[in-house]
Amino acid sequence: MPHKFVVEGGARLQGSVRVSGSKNAALPMMAAALLAKGPTILRNVPDLSDVRLMAEILETLGADVTLFAEPGVVVIDVVDEAPIHAPYELVSEMRASFCVLGPLLARRGEAHVSQPGGCTLGERPVDLHIKGIQAIGCEVDFVRGDVIAKGRPTGGRVYLGGPMGPSVTGTANVLCASVMSSGVTIIDQAACEPEISNLVEMLNSMGAKIRGGGTSRLVIEGVDELRPANIAVIPDRIEAGTLMIASAITRGDVTLEQCDPDVMLALFDKFTEMRVPFERLDATTVRINCPNRAKAADLATLPYPGFPTDLQSPLMALLCVSEGYALVEEKIYPERFMHVPEYRRLGADIRKQFNTAIVTGVDRVYGAPVAATDLRAGAGLILMGLAAEGTTDVMKIQHVDRGYDRLEDKLTSLGANIKRVEFFPRRRASDRNSKRARAA
Ligand code: EPU
Repeated sequence: MPHKFVVEGGARLQGSVRVSGSKNAALPMMAAALLAKGPTILRNVPDLSDVRLMAEILETLGADVTLFAEPGVVVIDVVDEAPIHAPYELVSEMRASFCVLGPLLARRGEAHVSQPGGCTLGERPVDLHIKGIQAIGCEVDFVRGDVIAKGRPTGGRVYLGGPMGPSVTGTANVLCASVMSSGVTIIDQAACEPEISNLVEMLNSMGAKIRGGGTSRLVIEGVDELRPANIAVIPDRIEAGTLMIASAITRGDVTLEQCDPDVMLALFDKFTEMRVPFERLDATTVRINCPNRAKAADLATLPYPGFPTDLQSPLMALLCVSEGYALVEEKIYPERFMHVPEYRRLGADIRKQFNTAIVTGVDRVYGAPVAATDLRAGAGLILMGLAAEGTTDVMKIQHVDRGYDRLEDKLTSLGANIKRVEFFPRRRASDRNSKRARAA
């Protein structure tokens, strides 16, 4: 039965909350476990439907996966290294499953991975992944919708810059593909995201020789063999940012624990411009105490360390009720504005053209039924619901469950009024008619 969130607006969030592990670090790290036979132990893994789906994919690829026998712990025991096929049924459910391509190729010499299609964020090609894998000496073919990569990587020079900047999962794939190559690989225009640094840390702990993690040039000296890892996933900077914005949008006073403020400077810079007060209490704790209405500030999304596209819709929610107007430019996914019509349903004033939106802050937004079109749009709608007068029903929350670990529990612990409610979708007349026709 589907669920929706019912959000009663108006509560001022207060208290402390612990940030979970990063989805976008955990998923490629789970895939990287395929690089070594035996049990890899990942700690601080968030409990998400995407993590459970990645576990299912790894099981079809010969791993025994134990999820959360202890909180945050996932054990991936690679027992059978023969399977090489990640099928369409699974890959089409989640783009990040394409991250098994590099590890399978490196360890098993061949990988057949279904080519991901487009999604609500736009076209999302994988040409950079393919180009990188070819540049380190492997053959790539396309057969019936599968990407087929073959050969022993020899190493080489790889340039991963695309029209929208470097690719994050493309970097993960080429990195994993090259760790056991016969030579040296140099990746230029590699993604600098902290999630890639976490992956580099994992691979080096397995015996890989990678220099330059966190920079745009990665130098990888191939090794013969890797051992399983035991490593913690970094805190989720996008979840942390969402909760910080939740504090600001409700004029609350929220302390985030176990986050990494050092990787959130672009958001803090925006908070300074928007007059949202924040305080770093220690290396892993940040307090957002925002009694006043925020001021609007322009925003452009960029690759790390720029402002993350994954926080564009949550920050836009705050801009919708801030004082003044702001220009929002989406430079990573030009079409990532599916939340705009839904925000408008709640009374937001947004004009949009191509990859730009102009948001004029309004005094009030009002509750209404809305639907999440993707994970971060869903988070933004919950934030809008917290700020709105009345009740906001957020439908299609399976998107939110993909990437936020018990978001409603965290918000409830801070005083939000948000409930997960089962609902019965209305049957369409066409369904009723076809049932009658079948009965006749
Ligand atoms: N691109 C290409 N060619 C490629 C790959 C990407 O042109 O071969 C383009 C994309 O179309 C996009 C840009 O490059 O315009 C960046 O895409 P990237 O490949 O970096 O995205 P990704 O690796 O598929 C990850 C996150 C996304 C996040 C983006 C950008 C994971 C599992 N996913 O996706 O997270 O938005 O980086 O930071 O790490 C989310 O968590 O909600 C989410 C969508």
